[in-house]
Amino acid sequence: MNRKFKKNILCIGAGYVGGPTMAVIAAKCPEYKITVVDINEQKINDWNSGNIPIFEPGLEEIVNQVKNKNLFFSTNIEKGIEQADIIFVSVNTPTKTFGEGAGKTADLQYWEKTARSILQASRNDKVVVEKSTLPVKTAEAMERILNSGDDNINFQVVSNPEFLAEGTAIQDLLNPDRVLIGSRETPEGIKARKQIVEIYRHWIPVHKIITSNIWSSELSKLVSNAFLAQRISSINSISALCEKTGADVEEVAYSVGSDSRIGDKFLSASVGFGGSCFKKDILNLVYICESYGLYEVAEYWENVVKINEFQEQRFVRNISKAMFNTIANKKITLFGFAFKANTGDTRESAAIYVTRELLAEHALVTITDPQALDNAKIDLKDHIQQLSFESDPYQAAVGAHAIAVLTEWDVYPKLDYQRIFDSMEKPAFIFDGRNILDHRKLFEIGFNVYPVGKPHLNHF
Ligand code: UDX
Ligand code: ADP
Repeated sequence: MNRKFKKNILCIGAGYVGGPTMAVIAAKCPEYKITVVDINEQKINDWNSGNIPIFEPGLEEIVNQVKNKNLFFSTNIEKGIEQADIIFVSVNTPTKTFGEGAGKTADLQYWEKTARSILQASRNDKVVVEKSTLPVKTAEAMERILNSGDDNINFQVVSNPEFLAEGTAIQDLLNPDRVLIGSRETPEGIKARKQIVEIYRHWIPVHKIITSNIWSSELSKLVSNAFLAQRISSINSISALCEKTGADVEEVAYSVGSDSRIGDKFLSASVGFGGSCFKKDILNLVYICESYGLYEVAEYWENVVKINEFQEQRFVRNISKAMFNTIANKKITLFGFAFKANTGDTRESAAIYVTRELLAEHALVTITDPQALDNAKIDLKDHIQQLSFESDPYQAAVGAHAIAVLTEWDVYPKLDYQRIFDSMEKPAFIFDGRNILDHRKLFEIGFNVYPVGKPHLNHF
């Protein structure tokens, strides 16, 4: 074992959570050796070669500071496990697509596989930390697997859910609202929890480190995401009503959010929320509630997802309706494909649904995005012949009948819309799914403008 370092920390899973989290821990804890492993060899090569596999502002700088000093990327999972004192598990937990709980609960096969690898390769006691979002009681299942061996090795499972949001991951890790650490409340459990607290104490004030029992910690992560998503669905549902009544959803959100009991964050109406967490975590919550017979509670939360689907459908319907109920053979350019700005991630992006629906209506779709075109091509591989991809938004808009803004990238409000208008077919339409453009100015240029939750501005 490498004794140059005080402790060996391993992270299994080098993705959006594992990579940035370990880079920040390495930067803040120089006396710990951090190794990140992954089954995906290409991903590890990318981390090692400096061609970082995810786009995250500020990440590259931090990785460059610590890589090969106390942060290492490797495919040797077994060796990593053997040498580790603490193992963070941040492998993916997609929603199950088959069997019981299909479409709702998490597919735990990656987790179980990881638990078995940990059991097989371990020669001494370990603290195993759940980093990925998991259904409540997964820690218990983990413990059962880990303690099924005949060796006298003690495994303590701790839950330390990650609250970082993509696009702001580094800031969120450096300055989180809170860090949550749940463990069993036995002497061994408390001892394990302390080891994790010790890591975060390097840069997080003690009052921001919340400790709890393991199930509260697991559930808090699901509930945090459910509450955030619920706010978006709440304002999105009101955006539909605003469009009917002539109210302006931004004015409503501002007034409502000015009440300090409600708060002003996460009240931006949009084409719908995406990302790898919200839908998955809510459906997980729904499944748990159903499995305990709490059908009313399950239904309450499921509606957050249903409103999101309704919002995506409404957006496409509005496009079609505004363009005289026929979009066949009309070029529609999507500004943005990522599920939010400042990331190349497209998991559950509303843009995927919108593109599919537009193609079903035989529209000619062109997609532009500063970071997400590679992922977009993978998401839409079944339709690749019917699509065009273009990194320059001006080029993407040439000859289009309509532009639909799907991601709130900073660049889009700054473009020269007179130039864009001049290159488009007339009448030219803009559907602003993020309410980021200057609608009045666009209207004056000649566009027919359709924001979300605001009166539309058209010339006929
Ligand atoms: C979320 C949680 O914020 C984070 O704490 C958790 O760890 C992981 O899940 P993330 O999915 O990365 O993070 O992004 P987030 O900023 O929460 O946005 C999620 C989606 O909601 C995006 O599609 C975003 O565009 C949308 N959104 C957000 C809105 O439509 N309106 C808003 O007001 C805020
Ligand atoms: P997240 O957003 O939760 O970080 P990602 O998909 O970005 O999700 O990252 C999860 C990573 O976990 C992927 O790189 C995947 O290859 C890796 N992974 C999945 N299963 C295993 C496993 N059994 N051992 C090691 N790595 C794994």
